[in-house]
Formats: sequence, structure tokens, C-alpha cells
Amino acid sequence: MGLYNERILPYLIDLSMAGAGLGQYRRQVLAEVSGEVLEIGFGTGLNLPYYPDWVEQIVTVDPSPGVHRLAQKRIDASPITVTHRMVSGEALPMADGTFDSVVSTFTLCSIPQIEQALAEIYRVLKPGGRFFFVEHGLSDEPDIQRWQNRLTPLQKRIAGGCHLNRAMGQLIGQQFDQVEIEAAYANTLPKVAGYFYTGVATRR
Ligand SMILES: C[S@@+](CC[C@H](N)C(=O)[O-])C[C@H]1O[C@@H](n2cnc3c(N)ncnc32)[C@H](O)[C@@H]1O
Repeated sequence: MGLYNERILPYLIDLSMAGAGLGQYRRQVLAEVSGEVLEIGFGTGLNLPYYPDWVEQIVTVDPSPGVHRLAQKRIDASPITVTHRMVSGEALPMADGTFDSVVSTFTLCSIPQIEQALAEIYRVLKPGGRFFFVEHGLSDEPDIQRWQNRLTPLQKRIAGGCHLNRAMGQLIGQQFDQVEIEAAYANTLPKVAGYFYTGVATRR
């Protein structure tokens, strides 16, 4: 799996995440991001063109060197200054209350200890700071849920630990008491991978 994860998977992530009509979701989620910004699971830098003009610098984390190598061309082409840390979302090396905005797009599905990562996101937000997210996850249809549960072990193996069946609304709601969230199918993807949770959670 080492060669696959380090050399092949990053290209597959870049290819799949650059398409499937995801740009509209990126634009929507990033529209109100402001202040000190942290992006979790920066991937290949596909969010950079969608940050609003007033965002001039961001801090990013992602544990994968192979993925980050592919981000470099987008970092070089962007007017935004990117300070990247090659660390996991479960153990952020930042002080409590550092950020006004934390961003996660299609990343919580792949973080092994998601509750720990959400606790870290909450911890590094300032009081009143906001967590902006779009994530795919567990459908509200029992038939689709069954397929998501069946396919998740395979998906985890081929897609870098990605779970199809995480109840994102519930997981985010366990950490944050103020959550605005919408859940609906993206019409460009099969239902098992296309039930999207979009929203904003605010730290008290
Ligand atoms: C499907 S990609 C999404 C990338 C990017 N956020 C986007 O929207 O294109 C999932 C990303 O999560 C990253 N990831 C995996 N485990 C992680 C962890 N424990 N903490 C933070 N990011 C992680 C992967 O390296 C990968 O870049």
C-alpha cells in the first residue's frame, strides 16, 4: 500500500476532487471565510481559487507528502500565502483560540479519529469562530445507507481511508452546539458518494 498511497493515490485524489461539479460547493462554503484561517486536509490545493479576495494568507494541514507535492503548483499560482504543516487533523500544533475560521472540504470522511479532529478544530477556533464545511456522508435513505455500509471497507482501502457512511451532521453536532447544516444529494455523483452535508458550526 505504501507505493499506492504515496505515488498513485495523490493523482487519483487530484483528478477526482478537481471534477464532479465540486467547484460550486467550494465557492459556497468559502464565501464567508475571514480573519485567521486554517484549512484541514488541504489536499492538492483545489480550494485556493475559491477563497474570497480579502483572504490573503491561510494556514493549512495535511499529513500526506505525496498529495502536498501536487498542491505546490496551485500554491505558486495563487495570490494567497500558504503556510503548510504536514500534520494530522487529530493533533494540531496550534494554540487554543488561534483561528477565526476553520475550513474542511471532503476531508472528515478520511480522518481516522474524526471525533478527535473535531475536538481539535473546536479547540483552535477563537470564541465565536466558525467552522465551514462540505463533506459527503451517510444518506438519509435506508437503502443507500446499506450500500454505503457495504462499500465502506473497500472505499477505505482504495481511497485513502475514506468512509462513505459517516453521519456528519451528528458528529459535528456532538462537538458544536450551534450548527447550521443542509444535507442533499449532489446531482453529479452516485448517491452512495454524493450525499453532501454543507454548513457552518460556531464555537461558543
Ligand atoms: C478527498 S481528499 C480532499 C482534499 C481537499 N480537502 C479537497 O477538497 O480537494 C482528503 C484529504 O484528507 C487528507 N487527510 C487524510 N487523513 C488526514 C488526517 N488525519 N488529518 C488531516 N487530513 C487528512 C488526505 O491527505 C487528503 O488530502
